[in-house]
Formats: sequence, structure tokens, C-alpha cells
Amino acid sequence: MPDLKAWRKEFPILGKCTYLISNSLGAMPRGVYAELKDFADAWATQGVLAWEDWVPMVKSTAELIAKIVNAPRDTMIMHQNVSVLQHVLISCFEFSGKRNKVIYSDLEFPTVHYNWKAREADGARVVIVKSPDGVHLPTELMLKEIDEETLVVPVSYVLFRSAFIQDAKAIIRRAHEVGAVVILDAYQAVGTIPVDVQDLDVDFMVGGSVKWLCGGPGAGYLYARKDLITKYRPKSCGWFSHREPFAFDMGPIDYADDIMRYSGGSPGVPALYSARAGYRIVRKVGVKAIRKRSQQMTARIVELALALGLKVNTPMDPALRAGTVSVDFPGSEEACHELIRRKFIVDYRPKAGIRNSPHFYNSDDECDAIMDEIRKIRSKSKM
Ligand SMILES: Cc1ncc(COP(=O)(O)O)c(C=O)c1O
Repeated sequence: MPDLKAWRKEFPILGKCTYLISNSLGAMPRGVYAELKDFADAWATQGVLAWEDWVPMVKSTAELIAKIVNAPRDTMIMHQNVSVLQHVLISCFEFSGKRNKVIYSDLEFPTVHYNWKAREADGARVVIVKSPDGVHLPTELMLKEIDEETLVVPVSYVLFRSAFIQDAKAIIRRAHEVGAVVILDAYQAVGTIPVDVQDLDVDFMVGGSVKWLCGGPGAGYLYARKDLITKYRPKSCGWFSHREPFAFDMGPIDYADDIMRYSGGSPGVPALYSARAGYRIVRKVGVKAIRKRSQQMTARIVELALALGLKVNTPMDPALRAGTVSVDFPGSEEACHELIRRKFIVDYRPKAGIRNSPHFYNSDDECDAIMDEIRKIRSKSKM
């Protein structure tokens, strides 16, 4: 088993509380202080000339993630967040033809759902596949719905409530058989389970850095398969999507013939600086080692939770479970508030319960301690 304890000192918050919430906001690497100072120094000393370094960061920052997900060069860019990226990708499609079906499940992250539902007004036919238990989504249920009228399948690799790992490869294969496109939301996957965009043969992949990548807010990423990059003309665009942004041309947009056509306006530069330290650490530790350690800790939490009689809203099969163990019991929402008061940092989500999300920097002791704290809170309040 990989011994990753040495990494703890890189994350200041670990000395202040029991931090088990990397599904929501990964711990800040110490190196972010220096990165943000570099940003401030560049702005203070180079002024407007700093843009010469900042604009290329839209691609160069994404290259750091590309190495983690095995994406070829020039297939990724940074953007603000998944919601904006979903909007950009939706703007690539027309819904007026017979092929206008959009398929995802009722366990998707709502931001994706809101964006697609809004396009029903433009003719998109949204079909929502129901999970039988709120935890798993049997792949056959998805495959059954994907047919010749399907345009897009915008699905999560890992479901945010239960950490169920979808069979993305099977979904992508089926979508391609019928000529549909898959937009994979890999937010809850990248940084905690191995992701290989080339092996998946995924069309588009989106995600962000807040969680398992420990990169902080404002650093969303987009991957587009090389052969698709110039196929689409995103209506949601901006001057950096133009072949020559500084020509300030007032004709119809002449799209860049690379991934920048999906970019839009001025990038959120500080976010790009602050995201890099986390990417470098995740790459150095290695997602294979992270996954091994994560499986060990999630199995430990599952076992302890079952021993306490809690409902575990997460797959029991470790191969189907990503980084989170959701546990529920009457009064779990209040118990979550109490845990936070006691400096055990986790979160509560309706229909999931308390989400416990150990990352490579957590210890077995911390996994034991949170379950013991839940036991104490429940026995005191008779929950
Ligand atoms: C699967 C998934 N997608 C998207 C998001 C967030 O989207 P955005 O980047 O727009 O905030 C989250 C969580 O915050 C998530 O778990």
C-alpha cells in the first residue's frame, strides 16, 4: 500500500481539523501562496504586458491536467466552471431535426440538468433515466435509451451523491454506435480515479479543480477529441474564440482552428495560477496510488458505518465506488452541523446523507475518528 503520509505537511488545513471533504473542496496545497504571489508580482511589475504570459496559460495550465487524463497536446483548455462549459457545448448543437434527444439520469449534478432543460424551449427532447435506488445507475438503463434519435448524452463519470462510477466506456460506445455525442462530466473522477480520455474515446469532457485536484475555484477544464475540435461552431463564444482576436473584426466570427474556439473572453488568470500546485501534486503522487489508498480508506469507513448501523448510500462494491462514502441516519443533517462544530469537516446532501471523502493526504486514524464522532453524537442525542 502506498505510504502517502509525507504529503500531509503540504496541506496546512490538515493540522487544524479533520478534513474529509475533498468531494467538495480539496485541501489547499501550501504552494498556492507562492503561485498567487507570482500572479501579484506579474501584475504589479509587468502591468498590461503580463497578458503575454497570461493568455497562453489557458492552454498551458490545461496541459497539466492533460497529463493526468492522458489527453493529447492541444486538446484541452481552461474555462471558468462546468456550468459555463456545458453552456458552450450546448451552443454547438441544433435541436430542430429528428435527432434531438438528450439523455442523462436523475442522479446527475443539477447544473447540467438546468442547462439542458432550458434548451427544451429550443427543441431539445430531454429524457431522464431514473435510478432504481438513488445510489446506482444500472448501465443497461442508459444504453436502452440511447438510440438513433439521440443527439447528446451529457453524463457524469462519478455520481456526486453516491460516488457510483458509471460505465462511461459502455455509454460512449453505445452513443457512437448510433451517432450521438457524449459530454462526460468528470468532476468527481479526475484526481481520485484513473481517467484516460483516449481509452474512453470520449467526445468532450468537462470538470473543475475545486475537488480532488486541489486546485481551488474558477479553474474549469474542457477536453475535446482532436477530430471534433473544428467540427463544431459554438454560438456561445468570445473574442478569444476568434482566429485573430486582436484584429477586432466586426464580421461574423471566424473561429480559431484549434481548441481556443471554445474559450470565450478574458480568462480568470488568478484561478489558473492557484490551480497549478494541486495538479502538480496529484501528478507526482499518481492517480493509481491515490486510487489504491482511497479504496482502502473508503472500505474502512463503509465497514465502520455498517457496524454503527448507518445506511450506506454508496456502492458496496469497491470497484464501483469512487472517493466518497455517503452515510445516512435520522437526524444526519443536524449531526453534520455538529461534526463541523467539532472540527470534523464533511458535508450533508439531501438523498445522500453525510459525505465522507478521504483523499491521499488523510489517515486511517481520521477515518476512524469521524465514525467514532458520529457514534458519540448519535448516542448523546439518541439519533
Ligand atoms: C459532478 C459535478 N459536476 C459539476 C459540479 C459543479 O459545477 P460548477 O463547476 O459549474 O460549479 C459539481 C460540484 O460542485 C459536481 O459534483
